[in-house]
Amino acid sequence: MVRLSPLLALPLCFRAARGSLVDDIVNAIENAVDCAGCHALLVPLQGLALLGDAAFDATFIAVCQALKVQDPDVCEGIIKQQGPILAHDLRSISAFGQTATKLCDSVFGLCQPPPINNYIVPFPKPVPSDPKVWTSKGRKPFQVAHFSDVHIDREYAPGSDVNCTKPICCRNYADSAKPPKVPAGPMGEHHCDTTTALAQSMLHAIPADTAFSLFTGDVVEASVWLVNQTGVTNDLQTFDNEMATILGAPVYPAIGNHEVAPINLFPRSTASTPGAAQWVFDTQSKGWTKWIGGAGASQVAHISGSYSIVHPGTDLRIISLNTVYWYKANFWLYDSDTQQSDPNGILAFAVQELQAAEDAGQRAWIIAHIPPGRGDVLHDQSDYFDQIVQRYKNTIAAQFYGHSHQDEFAIAYSNYANRSAETAVSVGFIAPSLTPRSGQPAFKVYDIDPDTYEIMDARVFRSNVDSPTFQSQPTWELYYSARATYGPLVGVQPSEPLGPAFWHRVTEAFARNDTAFQQYRTFLDRGLDEGACDAACKDLTICGLRALRAQDNCIVSKPGLNFRRRDVLAAAHGHPDECEGAGLGSLFSPMPSQMVKTPAQRAELKQVMLEALAREGVQL
Ligand SMILES: *[C@@H]1O[C@H](CO)[C@@H](O)[C@H](O)[C@H]1NC(C)=O
Ligand SMILES: *[C@@H]1O[C@H](CO)[C@@H](O)[C@H](O)[C@H]1NC(C)=O
Ligand SMILES: *[C@@H]1O[C@H](CO)[C@@H](O)[C@H](O)[C@H]1NC(C)=O
Ligand SMILES: *[C@@H]1O[C@H](CO)[C@@H](O)[C@H](O)[C@H]1NC(C)=O
Repeated sequence: MVRLSPLLALPLCFRAARGSLVDDIVNAIENAVDCAGCHALLVPLQGLALLGDAAFDATFIAVCQALKVQDPDVCEGIIKQQGPILAHDLRSISAFGQTATKLCDSVFGLCQPPPINNYIVPFPKPVPSDPKVWTSKGRKPFQVAHFSDVHIDREYAPGSDVNCTKPICCRNYADSAKPPKVPAGPMGEHHCDTTTALAQSMLHAIPADTAFSLFTGDVVEASVWLVNQTGVTNDLQTFDNEMATILGAPVYPAIGNHEVAPINLFPRSTASTPGAAQWVFDTQSKGWTKWIGGAGASQVAHISGSYSIVHPGTDLRIISLNTVYWYKANFWLYDSDTQQSDPNGILAFAVQELQAAEDAGQRAWIIAHIPPGRGDVLHDQSDYFDQIVQRYKNTIAAQFYGHSHQDEFAIAYSNYANRSAETAVSVGFIAPSLTPRSGQPAFKVYDIDPDTYEIMDARVFRSNVDSPTFQSQPTWELYYSARATYGPLVGVQPSEPLGPAFWHRVTEAFARNDTAFQQYRTFLDRGLDEGACDAACKDLTICGLRALRAQDNCIVSKPGLNFRRRDVLAAAHGHPDECEGAGLGSLFSPMPSQMVKTPAQRAELKQVMLEALAREGVQL
């Protein structure tokens, strides 16, 4: 690895030849076609960052607007919010180190994730020699609801335009067409986030006899270029109150990447401003006390939003983790060249709580927003979390996630080189989103064996936005039962839970039976057209289902796209990314491929950058 010392060298270098900075940036962006080119690009970007946050932001706002990557206000809002963190990263790291490689993967899709940094997760005790055996007594299951990615837009405006050029529509934007071409209905639309009325309708639709609900995060709508602390706090408190008022039973929530402003940006405890997201944890600590008690609320405040709670009257410990510290789009993770195995102690907390469960003879469920096997998760932390899953596989009965907006699952294996029903050790259930932006609004209800806490069935309920009565009175209908749909394909016994081996056999059924696979794809967005999926797309999809560990998900980072599996599929099928909304990565990654190539266009872009810098008082 080349080790330069850019932080020492650059200021002198650029004082001598600042006039060439804009040339260097434009040339470097054009040459950023591979990983080496991306590292080389970071050098002039560091020079720009050293001119200050305002100059850095202004330059990229001008570039984003000139290249028409997003609407002008979206370019400005996102870069003003997130740009200073990226500039801080660039000032803090080597352009040629491993952190830079991770940044080039995350922001530009130009590098592949570097090899895993070896780290052996410390465990307080070895695997017990006589692990507890969990035996079903065949008693009647109890019910648990699971909803996710509600993305409630409190500024949704009925009558505003459904069709707009911004990441979400159905709002009164200053530059909206007047009169609107397609006016938004009162209950919700597919290009828009969730209305208050639809969120309340969903909460009312959750069956009254559910023992509790899991909510795997993302309260706030995707107007990521506008969000601020006051608005997000208000959104979190409002939905906490709605859940408490409408649902009789407890809710066990998890922190999502939209729960902070700027979006995704939870700083590590080692950051220059380590407490910058503490308001999120304090807000949710208060909002969740009624369900998780004083001890759980204290953990939320002190363990970066994570907590653990034994559901009253059961031997089931629910461990809620803030996995946004493992998320590639959290740019605070690139503020140092020092490798951190366990940012904010989330892994250590999981170990502590799983050991407590094992010691007490309890079963455990893991809940979190971001599934740890996806293309948007750092390979290091995903690998370390997998070590924890392997160690406590006897204790963990199931895992529950959201974030992808799709109705999916993901399997962990004791041996990823030989993925089979025999080596499958754990399964993550990924909930569909409520927001109609990503398909028909939906939630799941699980049947749970009261002695093993294993999942006996997963039923999806959906509301059909395209139904003629939806705008006046949305209804929620059983869409499908996983047991009834997949059981006959894999020969499930009546007493067998829908555990990791079952789900592996389902992936085998998908591989051999394309009708079953295409049905699964229809289920992903709850019936909205997913587009075609050819053989390569099918292989990639099945590989993703067989990977709760990110290094095994078969995803290859690509420039001009974001790093998510959805985007890889999008390459062939024209689907937008929906997890992050329009984050900084979605602005930067298209830049090299959209870069103008003629001398006249290049000169114009340089002029745009020079003018932006001049407005910030920087003369080059
Ligand atoms: C939505 O807007 C785009 C771009 O302005 C236009 O091409 C498309 O026809 C519009 N769709 C509808 C349903 O109005
Ligand atoms: C913060 O966001 C809210 C909406 O969520 C908005 O009404 C308010 O004007 C914003 N505040 C600032 C200072 O931008
Ligand atoms: C894969 O695992 C299965 C079941 O544990 C075993 O029977 C088989 O021999 C393994 N294959 C390889 C190549 O390791
Ligand atoms: C393939 O899957 C479809 C849909 O689940 C099912 O109806 C059909 O019976 C399956 N075919 C075979 C040969 O299992």
